[in-house]
Amino acid sequence: MLFAFELSGEHKTIPISEVCACLETLGAGYKIHLSLDGCLVLELENDIENDGENIIKSLVKRLAMTHHIIKVLGIGGGCEEDVLDVVSNNMPDLEGTYSIRVKRVRDYSSLNTESMERKIGGIFFKRGAHADLKDPDIQFRVILTEDKCIFGIMCGSIDRSAFEARKPHHKPFFYPGVLMPRVALALVNIAKPDTVLFDPFCGTGGILIEAGLIGIKVIGGDMQRKILLGAKMNLDHYNVDYSLMFEDACGMALGDNCIDAVVTDPPYGRSAAIKAQSLEYMLGKSLKEVYRVLKPGRRAVFISECPIEKLVQEAGFEVVELHIQRVHKSLTRRMLVLRKP
Ligand SMILES: C[S@@+](CC[C@H](N)C(=O)[O-])C[C@H]1O[C@@H](n2cnc3c(N)ncnc32)[C@H](O)[C@@H]1O
Repeated sequence: MLFAFELSGEHKTIPISEVCACLETLGAGYKIHLSLDGCLVLELENDIENDGENIIKSLVKRLAMTHHIIKVLGIGGGCEEDVLDVVSNNMPDLEGTYSIRVKRVRDYSSLNTESMERKIGGIFFKRGAHADLKDPDIQFRVILTEDKCIFGIMCGSIDRSAFEARKPHHKPFFYPGVLMPRVALALVNIAKPDTVLFDPFCGTGGILIEAGLIGIKVIGGDMQRKILLGAKMNLDHYNVDYSLMFEDACGMALGDNCIDAVVTDPPYGRSAAIKAQSLEYMLGKSLKEVYRVLKPGRRAVFISECPIEKLVQEAGFEVVELHIQRVHKSLTRRMLVLRKP
């Protein structure tokens, strides 16, 4: 059965990687059917009747960079005639009320979405269906992207307002220059945690909070006591299951092979918060420590401003993915997804 994931436009690669990693964490088999700008269509092994519904519910709770999940009824070309054909050839028999929304990704289509909604409404009307835009039984959706249209039924939407409410300056303890919650949760998902996630440069706890809110036990470490107290205030505020340590990421008080996943955002080049003899020493040493504490086969997501591939290799990691995020003129984050063989 095909499902379309309507992706956030805020990043090109992270949303795709997040969906795939989440499915792997949930143990759901999938194949990529189409990867279009703003829309990923996957063939899921579990259909709606065969545990698919639970998988969709779990995805809705976890995903950060997806807007909607759609059960695909038909896929076709992007011109008006093709869209209307796809809808009329794949429209199911309707018992209750419906709504239809047409969504265009960027400027791929020149079709007027409101006019298309009216024309599709005309097809539904001829088949005796009743529209209810406020409280429909079924919500149909058409996505127009690249040269295609994807027609289907909405089966899950992600509550994006919760991320807005957790922006760093809304938290009890605020410190500038931290990751936005959506990015933090997407990286947590990409790290594929089962039960325990560790952030050795945890700062105010932004990554730990996002992981804790999806039910992961979190461990954080930092070398500034004031910041650790701030992290404690924030983690208590969100009622997360956590442990915090005052520790040097270059020499961690954790045993070997005990952590499921690491996501971390160490200080960057110009930062006064580097508590080590040099940035390179800190990154190299902490990568070796992360490697030591991680279980074999598990992932670490390590953020840096400069390329650290040589240090990563020296620590023993394989590079799985690289995501680049341009934050502003003088800051580009490199997010390396690593795997301990
Ligand atoms: C970019 S901030 C982390 C931001 C964090 N993601 C947040 O949500 O606030 C980097 C953190 O690394 C800490 N740090 C610097 N050197 C360290 C070291 N050697 N060991 C552990 N933490 C260190 C700093 O105190 C700072 O809080």
